[in-house]
Amino acid sequence: MAYKNIIVDIEDNVCLIRLDRPDAMNALNLDLLRELGKALGEAQQNDKVRACVITGSEKAFAAGADIKMMSEKSFVDVFTEDLFTPEEQAIRRIRKPIIAAVSGYALGGGCELAMMADFIIAGDNAKFGQPEVNLGVMPGMGGSARLTKLVGRAKAMDMALTGRMMDAEEAERAGLVSRVVPAKKLVEEALAAARKIAEKGAISVMAIKEAVNRADEMPLAEALLFERRLFHALFATEDQKEGMTAFIDKREPQFRDR
Ligand code: CAA
Repeated sequence: MAYKNIIVDIEDNVCLIRLDRPDAMNALNLDLLRELGKALGEAQQNDKVRACVITGSEKAFAAGADIKMMSEKSFVDVFTEDLFTPEEQAIRRIRKPIIAAVSGYALGGGCELAMMADFIIAGDNAKFGQPEVNLGVMPGMGGSARLTKLVGRAKAMDMALTGRMMDAEEAERAGLVSRVVPAKKLVEEALAAARKIAEKGAISVMAIKEAVNRADEMPLAEALLFERRLFHALFATEDQKEGMTAFIDKREPQFRDR
């Protein structure tokens, strides 16, 4: 399907989604977020897709929620329409792995969108920030809740209260991003990581995503039990037999997602 605010390419079992509002630094308006949710939903349904990558331009992953779209809204408007809730849920519902490949600005909703992915690979020119305080508001898509879990209270407070940006190196040190690569190679590296995931068995990949995400939300004892039970359950799959036999036979496994 044709989109207006994103570009979608599927190749080698990976769905690459590029945010594409160059005149607005990829600011996230509702049309863009809805298209993104739709494209990810289609990727979830498409058997050829085994992993997704979301990226922006070299200058901006996304400079935040669209301020022009929000500026005239009242409390009643945003509360009644539940601004950003369905859009965030559409992304969180995806069970296939999602990598955010961030170059340039990832601010406000842009940083929050990156954090909705399963992990972030950053170009060495990436800048992360939650500057909503400068607009008289606060983060509204995870920039206080999710960011605190990822980088800890001190840095989350520092970023959200001062509105300062964090460069790629600091973001890696803080645990916000999994790795930093040269900006020119960002998409290539993210696609390579996605293709590596795409080679694995889809059932273990889905189970891992689910367990890590649950670990964020559950007390440790519950998360450990959830993990252990999923680990046990994977012994019911053919992929477990294949994976372990291939190791013993010193050959590459041929996973069949069963
Ligand atoms: N919303 C709407 N338009 C935006 C935008 C945004 N978040 N960010 C940038 N743009 C637009 C600018 O208005 C400008 O458009 P015009 O040419 O029509 O004026 C165009 O993109 C280019 O931007 P700049 O001229 O500002 O480019 P720059 O290189 O000088 O600065 C920037 C880049 C530092 C990213 C700066 O644009 C900026 O600070 N943007 C806003 C960042 C921000 O405050 N984000 C938080 C948004 S609120 C939010 O996200 C809420 C939430 O948690 C859900």
